[in-house]
Amino acid sequence: MNYRTLGRTGWKISEISFGAWAIGGSWGNVSDEESLAALHAALDGGVNFFDTADVYGDGRSERLLAKLKRERKEKFYIATKAGRRLPKQVPEGYTRKNLTAWVERSLKNLDTDSIDLLQLHCPPTEVFYRPEVFGVLDDLVQAGKLRHYGVSVEKVEEALKAIEFPNVQSVQMIFNIFRQRPSELFFQEAQRRKVGILARVPLASGLLSGKITRSSKFAKDDHRNFNRHGEAFDRGETFSGVDFETGLRAVEELKSLAPRNVPLAQLALRWILEFPAVTCAIPGAKRPAQVAENIAASDLKKLPLATMKKIRALYEAEIQPLVHHHW
Ligand SMILES: NC(=O)c1ccc[n+]([C@@H]2O[C@H](COP(=O)([O-])OP(=O)(O)OC[C@H]3O[C@@H](n4cnc5c(N)ncnc54)[C@H](OP(=O)(O)O)[C@@H]3O)[C@@H](O)[C@H]2O)c1
Repeated sequence: MNYRTLGRTGWKISEISFGAWAIGGSWGNVSDEESLAALHAALDGGVNFFDTADVYGDGRSERLLAKLKRERKEKFYIATKAGRRLPKQVPEGYTRKNLTAWVERSLKNLDTDSIDLLQLHCPPTEVFYRPEVFGVLDDLVQAGKLRHYGVSVEKVEEALKAIEFPNVQSVQMIFNIFRQRPSELFFQEAQRRKVGILARVPLASGLLSGKITRSSKFAKDDHRNFNRHGEAFDRGETFSGVDFETGLRAVEELKSLAPRNVPLAQLALRWILEFPAVTCAIPGAKRPAQVAENIAASDLKKLPLATMKKIRALYEAEIQPLVHHHW
């Protein structure tokens, strides 16, 4: 496992880290036993950074990470998120009172006195124009409740605005073979300001693993069933916002670009790591075998320039027209 520095925190974090949404909820049935085994496998493989949120399984994901901490001695970092407990996503909900209460709840779930990294969880765009919200986060750092804070965003424009606040250490955003716009302007700006980038949905919800087909079935409570068109939350979070059929066709073409013996999921993760502005990719995983496969991407050789160019050409021809202007 290779490590990269996160923003100005001085932390060296694993370039393949762990996304803990699926082990909380909204991805069909998961067993806590298997989820914990996946978390242990991640630590065994050198992962030292885990991304979760207070709303993943209403705290289930955070509590599993607290359990992991009790069961293991090595130091690892946990990034959680706040803001989605609001009944309606309105900027007025991001008050001192609410933020403080959400943080207190996460501290309890995570069984800790101080949260390593708290991220605003895709708030409405208007929140990025309210310095008082970031002032509250500064106060929570002062009070020792947070070590650092960052943001999770939907749009490149929100990311650009967020990093104007000097204490934002990280931006979490969708970045993968099907979502390339962040690399065009934002990466440069983030590097200039020494802000870390967490690449989420790196496998386009599993689509970029190449295992999903037209006949794949998803459970009723799996967002790949209930949010394909953004029925419950931003549609970009499901299959990266790419129309299912188009995505499947593009994946077929991608398969021919993977080096010999390299599974498509590893190609997808390796592609992300080719961008030095990215601190880490945070693939979600429910089972130890998925974790092992994902971690191995860190040790792969750099992708040939010709492969990078072919992936870009495929994106421009088939995916860009559908997604580029949205996020
Ligand atoms: N708004 C936000 O801030 C936000 C939104 C979304 C995600 N996130 C964060 O980003 C993380 C990653 O995104 P994501 O979990 O949505 O999507 P993802 O990482 O693109 O896809 C994860 C899913 O792909 C499948 N998978 C993983 N490894 C695989 C492998 N090696 N081979 C085949 N299939 C594999 C698993 O599902 P199956 O086995 O069921 O197919 C897994 O749950 C989340 O866990 C969360 O921490 C944050």
